[in-house]
This record gives sequence, structure tokens and C-alpha cells, in this order.
Amino acid sequence: MLSCLGHRPSRLRAGENIRSLMRETRLAKEDLIMPLFFKEGARSERIPSMPGIEKMGADLMLKEIESLDNAGIKAVLLFGAHGRKDGGASAAFDEDSTFHKAIRRIKDNSDIVVIADVCVCAYTDHGHCGILRPQGRKAAKPQVRIDNGKTLDVLAKIALSYAACGADMVAPSAMADGQVRAIREALDCGKFSQTAIMSYSAKYASAFYGPFRDIYDSSPVSGDRRSYQMDTGNGREALREAALDIEEGADIVMVKPALAALDVIKAVKEEFGMPVAAYSVSGEYSMVKAAAEKGWLDEEASALEILTSIKRAGADIIITYWAKEAASWIGSRR
Ligand code: PBG
Repeated sequence: MLSCLGHRPSRLRAGENIRSLMRETRLAKEDLIMPLFFKEGARSERIPSMPGIEKMGADLMLKEIESLDNAGIKAVLLFGAHGRKDGGASAAFDEDSTFHKAIRRIKDNSDIVVIADVCVCAYTDHGHCGILRPQGRKAAKPQVRIDNGKTLDVLAKIALSYAACGADMVAPSAMADGQVRAIREALDCGKFSQTAIMSYSAKYASAFYGPFRDIYDSSPVSGDRRSYQMDTGNGREALREAALDIEEGADIVMVKPALAALDVIKAVKEEFGMPVAAYSVSGEYSMVKAAAEKGWLDEEASALEILTSIKRAGADIIITYWAKEAASWIGSRR
């Protein structure tokens, strides 16, 4: 018998207006955070592995922030590098550093939300995200061993120093155990109870951070980051990491990278209902850029598809190198 009933999902896709009416997820420029890279000196410096992204001195950074503000971007994630690298990352928490002064100037001149990344890898001579324990001489295969306690002390000092300069939020990215608690305690004791913490909670040991490490020459001199960053095969562990950070006082939990961890973003959002940030990392950006330069991909369409999928997975906030461009793309789409 012939049935007259037909399932036709395509009815709701017939034209742009009905597609727009039915769209479940809409990317907004207000969702996006732009990472900015500080450098000493007046000049900017291109980053070859990240076309379109530059390291900037304070003056240029202020101008860039004004232009981001005009584009409708609400927050920036600042990365610093200054002073000499050493084993203890001592330059990182020097409140008189050029980077700290730049944070103060930004806060004096702009209402944009300033988030400061808290890690030591740009300040350690070995390039790891923690203070290392001395290696036993006999180790046949030397392992990267982080001194967690010393690392927490340094991370807390760095966070406090950024809060003292007026940063609205700190974002610990070292994957040290207990880093959120150590920072929350230091901030509260230092009378910075209003400074928020966005924790890199589920941070995978990802190959997609490759271009980023060129920026501050922060690739580990030896070994890799797999003894403190998470294994790609693990999903449940991400929930345990996020649960710990929430208990320790994180205001926002982050999953990183975004594109290779969409399932994790979704799981974290569903499990905790906390504000979830996702970091669309350097490799996600650069691979699209490189393909677009060759004419193999449409950058705008690809970037917006990636960012929308990250939001669809459950991210409330997306840290992305496309933030400024995406704001204008979103604005000009019908
Ligand atoms: C530093 C840090 C990294 C990134 C953000 N903070 C590098 C790393 O952990 O190796 C990666 C960002 C990106 O790739 O865009 N701890």
C-alpha cells in the first residue's frame, strides 16, 4: 500500500529565512575571547607559524584592544614574556616587569575583560610548565618530573602579581595538581577575592599546540608534556579534573584543545552545568590558514563552522585567534 505520509526534514531547510528560523546554535561575537601575545619593545613581530597573529608591545596592544572593543569583543587572554628565563621562572612574578606594567595600562585605559594566562613555560629555561625536580643521574630514560609543591608556589605568586595589576581573571594553564586551590587561597588572602579563575581543567597533551610554542620558544628543551597534560584517549579523567577544579574554586572550566575534544566539552557541560570555555588552539587556526593559503579551503566558512561546532558541543565561551575576524564575519552574515 502506498503511504501519503512522508518524512521530509528538508522542508525546514528550503530557504535562508527558514534555515535561520530553525537554527539551534548561533555564534555571537560576545562568545569570543581573543588571545594576545605581549613582547618587550615597541615593534610588533609576526609569528610565521600563525599567519595574521603578532606579538605586540604595550602601545600596539592598547591599540589592538581598542579595535577589538570596537569590533564587539568583550575579553582578551594575555600571554606574557619578559626578562630572563631560568629554572625557577623568577621573572614571571616580577610586578615591575614590562608585561605587568602593560596590564596596568590596559586596565587604566579600557573596560575590556582582562584574563591573564598563568604558566611558567615562557619563563623557564627548560620550557616545561612546572618547576622540575632534580634528575637522578642514573635514569636510563630521563623522565620529566615536576616538583608540584614548588610549582604551586610559583603559580600562586604569578596569579597574585597579575591580580595586583588589575587583571579581572587569571587562567592557570600549567596542569599542576591543586593549582586552582593554591591560586584561590593566594588571591583571597591577598584581598583579591573578586579576581576570577578560569582553569585549564582538561588540557590534553596535544600536537595542536605546535605553532603556539614558536611564539615564546617554549617547546620543552627535552622530554614532552605528557607527564602533566592529559592523554588523548581519556574522557572520564577530564570529568575528574573538572570536578576537582570546581571543588577548588574555579569559576569557569576550560577544555583544550577544542576541535579534538568536542565530546569532552559536551560531557563537562552536561555533568556540571558550570560556565565552560573551550580553547580553539593555534594548530586548529594554522591548519585552516595554511590550507586556505593554498586555496584548498574557504577560511571564513571553515572557521565559522569550527567555532559553531564548538558552541554546539556546549561551550559558553570560545578562545580563538579568529575572534576579531569572526566578529566581523558574524556581523555581515544574513
Ligand atoms: C602554556 C600554554 C600553551 C597553550 C596555552 N597555554 C602551550 C602548551 O601547553 O604547550 C597553547 C595555546 C595554543 O596552542 O593556541 N602552558
